[in-house]
Amino acid sequence: MSITEPPAPAPGPRSQDGDAAAEQLRDRISADSLTTRRDYLRIVATVSGGLAAGGVGVAAGILHRHGDSTSMPEPKKVADQLMPGESVAFRYPGDEDRALAVRLSDGSLVGYSAVCTHLACAVLWREDRGADGELYCPCHEGVFDARTGEVTAGPPPRPLPRIFLTEQADGSVWAIATARSGESAQEALCRQLGGARPETARRLGCPGADRAASTERKAAPTERGAT
Ligand code: FES
Repeated sequence: MSITEPPAPAPGPRSQDGDAAAEQLRDRISADSLTTRRDYLRIVATVSGGLAAGGVGVAAGILHRHGDSTSMPEPKKVADQLMPGESVAFRYPGDEDRALAVRLSDGSLVGYSAVCTHLACAVLWREDRGADGELYCPCHEGVFDARTGEVTAGPPPRPLPRIFLTEQADGSVWAIATARSGESAQEALCRQLGGARPETARRLGCPGADRAASTERKAAPTERGAT
């Protein structure tokens, strides 16, 4: 097991060039547990492209913290580097929210809340359990799949909430957003987008987004004319 202390918090990477940051986000963000990798990349591409010059910071602004809070999480650096077989414990999105990032043996980055969904004990990663290791809660022998966060043994009733990670060109690993337990990336985006960005919501396939996007397109010339 390899759990290290997180580095000191650093400002989010908000100043990168939009196209480059969007490309990095598209290529490097970890796959969501309940969405296929292809669908996930399509979602990330839609969001990062649709928002133009935002990259990591913008994506984080859309996918705000899990739970029902309406506050927006800042991107947070959780490791200068994370090699296969390593993990890091950190706090995200708030200072009290325990979280865990793991680099699996095939290079995939995964991130989860480290608060057990049973009775909130701390979840640890055990590297020596199978190809991907496992996420383990010692309180009542709860076990979660390290690749998906799904419950594989013990009393936890729900998967671990997912934390979205991205890796920057210098190898640093950042937490940028979260989803609720069992919530896909698309569901998380659609829920949190609400009516704020109808065109982006339409591209993501959010329910009811077609009508809202159409309304926005019709209103756009009028709004431009008024400025
Ligand atoms: Fe984790 Fe009970 S608190 S299994």
